[in-house]
Amino acid sequence: MADLQGRRILLGVTGGIAAYKSADLVRRLKDAGADVRVVMTRGAMEFVRPLTFQAVSGQPVHDSLLDPQAEAAMGHIELARWADVVLLAPATADALARVAHGLADDLLTTICLATEAPLAVAPAMNRVMWAHRATQDNLAVLRRRGVHVFGPGAGDQACGEVGAGRMLEPMELVQAVAGLFSEPLLQGVSVLITAGPTREPIDPVRYITNRSSGKMGFAVAQAAAAAGARVSLVAGPCALPTPPGVERVDVETAQEMLDAVTARAGEAQIFVASAAVADYRLAQVAASKLKKSRDIMHLELVRNPDILGTVAGMPNPPFTVGFAAETDNMRAYAEDKRRGKGLDMIAANWVGRPGTGFDADENALEVLWEGGGASLGPAGKLQVARELIRLVAQRYHDRVQV
Ligand code: C5P
Repeated sequence: MADLQGRRILLGVTGGIAAYKSADLVRRLKDAGADVRVVMTRGAMEFVRPLTFQAVSGQPVHDSLLDPQAEAAMGHIELARWADVVLLAPATADALARVAHGLADDLLTTICLATEAPLAVAPAMNRVMWAHRATQDNLAVLRRRGVHVFGPGAGDQACGEVGAGRMLEPMELVQAVAGLFSEPLLQGVSVLITAGPTREPIDPVRYITNRSSGKMGFAVAQAAAAAGARVSLVAGPCALPTPPGVERVDVETAQEMLDAVTARAGEAQIFVASAAVADYRLAQVAASKLKKSRDIMHLELVRNPDILGTVAGMPNPPFTVGFAAETDNMRAYAEDKRRGKGLDMIAANWVGRPGTGFDADENALEVLWEGGGASLGPAGKLQVARELIRLVAQRYHDRVQV
């Protein structure tokens, strides 16, 4: 669970269909400990009634700049000063345009001008509107001004089309907002991460893979980016959204993962190998679909390259962090692996136990380094990832200083 304890979030809801999701967003922000006030535009009120937001936030909803009574209660300047962050979700193409041009003709745009708090926007619109030069130019202006842009995601749209322009899901937005408050422990440091399984083809329709979901590696990427790192994420096949601010490279096989990693490892200051790389691949991939003509079939497998070992063995390796999934004797095996591969740090977790490890949302790690160690979790993978990044940052900075 993201930590927003005591953070004051001013949520600006503008007039798009995704506004219905913002009611859930308020709940999730509050669950994470935030204090939320909602400002709605006239357009937003056509989609969702203010009473909905009043009920979920537990606070009156603000919508008018020129209502003396509302201004007397908590005026636009007070709201602008109150906020630790102003988040526009959904942010329509119109809202982005108006904020980009500094208009102040309603309560929300006025607050955007009057606040000194960070401003974040979660765009939501039809894919053609999103791709339009006008929208992209406005976004470029906002980004230059330091506005944080969360998403949008891609997928089915309310208008029946499919493409980029969906508002991020409420939990993704909560995490992105939490990221704004995290300490810049890895500011400007380049971090390369592998995640997910690899997929080793047998023939054009079949492959060998494993149960890795990629959730832990993606959480590490998100936590590293939130800590200010420049993150490249080399991902095997997994259906997860790319964390905000992360450069993602999709690969399938171990060999492709190795190629993508070696192309980037020279630049990386930290390398985190969380991928569950298949240990073996087919000696020969069949060019056409194999027929079931025999009762027994033998597949000849050959070892895959050790990606982590390759990086750790480079002449000037980055700070290397490996993962180890163990079913027994975890600490001893993990420490052997750390020494064997010459790693700076290893994060070991139990697999085959319900609730943590592969595909679970929670995890617990034993982290080991030369002369020390720490236990993290059990907790949500993002929480564990944040704590891991804290340890990595400490050890990395210690090493750089020596
Ligand atoms: O040897 P084992 O597979 O248990 O090591 C696990 C660690 O090594 C993980 O960090 C994993 O990402 C990495 N690894 C790798 N390439 C392989 C096998 C494992 O990078 N071929």
